[in-house]
Amino acid sequence: MSQQRQVYGHHIGGEWTDGSGSETFASENPATGEELARFRRATATDVDAALAAAEDAVDEWRSLSHIDRAEYLWDIYHELRDRTEELGEIVTKECGKEISEGRADVIEAYHMVEWAAANARHPHGDVIPSEIASKDAYMRRKPRGVVGCVTPWNFPVAIPFWHMAIALVEGNTVVWKPAEQTPWCGQIIAEMFADAGVPDGVFNMIQGFGDAGAAITDDERVDTVLFTGSAEVGHEIASKVGGEPGKLAACEMGGKNGIIVADDADLDVAVHSAVMSSFKTTGQRCVSSERLIVHEDVYDEFTERFVDIAEDVTVGDPLDEDTFMGPAIEADHVEKIHRHNELAREEGAEVLVDRAKLGDEEIPAGHEDGAAAAADGERSGSFANGHWVGPFVYEIDYDPDLRCLKEECFGPHVALLKYSGGMDRALEIHNDTNYGLAGAIISEDYRKIHRFRDEAEIGLAYANLPCIGAEVHLPFGGVKQSGNGYPSAREVIEAVTERTAFTLNNSTDIEMAQGLSADITTGDD
Ligand code: UN1
Repeated sequence: MSQQRQVYGHHIGGEWTDGSGSETFASENPATGEELARFRRATATDVDAALAAAEDAVDEWRSLSHIDRAEYLWDIYHELRDRTEELGEIVTKECGKEISEGRADVIEAYHMVEWAAANARHPHGDVIPSEIASKDAYMRRKPRGVVGCVTPWNFPVAIPFWHMAIALVEGNTVVWKPAEQTPWCGQIIAEMFADAGVPDGVFNMIQGFGDAGAAITDDERVDTVLFTGSAEVGHEIASKVGGEPGKLAACEMGGKNGIIVADDADLDVAVHSAVMSSFKTTGQRCVSSERLIVHEDVYDEFTERFVDIAEDVTVGDPLDEDTFMGPAIEADHVEKIHRHNELAREEGAEVLVDRAKLGDEEIPAGHEDGAAAAADGERSGSFANGHWVGPFVYEIDYDPDLRCLKEECFGPHVALLKYSGGMDRALEIHNDTNYGLAGAIISEDYRKIHRFRDEAEIGLAYANLPCIGAEVHLPFGGVKQSGNGYPSAREVIEAVTERTAFTLNNSTDIEMAQGLSADITTGDD
């Protein structure tokens, strides 16, 4: 997509269209506030057209073999690989993640496409033994039909492919709404599907806001909803869809993820893992860690080392390879992060690092103000409108009533919690949240590690590692309020297919399982 001032539309039924509305909205670079491109805002009529197209396309698409459907995805796989550098930069410009993360987003996307397309040649279903020797029993899968996908801005290329690559290879058609913060990535992905020649109506993309998302997820033509995003929206979708028989919603939401640093932890590993988990992506991953649960024996040393790095970690131009943390996604989000920091203070936090409002010297050249920046060359001044926020680290005595330990901030906001005693206590604190997405333990003791593996109430558990960066072929998803399904990788197959238990009799006699009599008795007997 070029950056000329055109207004980009929707992709519906194989056509590019402006849709029926007159409103437009901008994609903005969160590091600079600069407008990147302008997009049409979808109306309910546009969503209706996209759903009608998806429904019309179902029969033809499902009549193809898995392998034929996957062929279209292989084209996209190669394009994602060939354009990784270019697209990584676009991800970084549009959502503010530093450049290595921008690239990793694209790499994660093509890994998922590779997995989905290659899986087309793998067995689907099971051969199951029957109690009756003359019977063959199988579990077979069928596509569910139309899949509605709503995806977040923090992985604007990867997560759309978590949802759509598998849904499509399995024989469903899709209607997708990218996050309103990252429509440019949405446009590029839609161009890829169009270039790959996917039959009309199989893939539909509409640009817009929550109202358009709700119009997709609420519509009765949608058989499965795949949602990744905020807990607030996800719970609303899950509870609505739960009341509609035959419809399914797989929702992946946030977390209040914790890392346990045990008394025997290797502190190099602990500090490294904690910094990565708390500050990568400026804390804006659903798997980011906002709670560090540290044993009293190592607390002082861990805290000193963690705080040292948090004081120093580079916040800046996300296109610069030396930047560790880019900006937050938007001004409202910065406000939200500040509110969480404030809440922690009100609840009695001892603040150890407060870089929430960064000093002039801490942020990219030009951020301080236009005048100083003007002397600084071409990019100067351009960061003045960025959504900057730095690490906020506090210690607080664990108390189950503290809201700051329960509510997800989705920013570089981290609590240090000192514990004494053994794993019982560490796990009690760790599990005391309504969320259950990701977590880690840092320990040299396999018994502690295995207790964490077995008793931590989370879907993604790590040992001696950060709690971010899951590979695509692992199941991704949480328990408790973090999710009610797995809208990614192989687990998504469950959400986008129906199972048929198929039994075939190879004999001319009818013989039943469970000792059930097959005799038919009549009045003449
Ligand atoms: C998210 O947390 O918002 O495990 C998605 C990870 C990435 C996906 C994260 N593969 O960190």
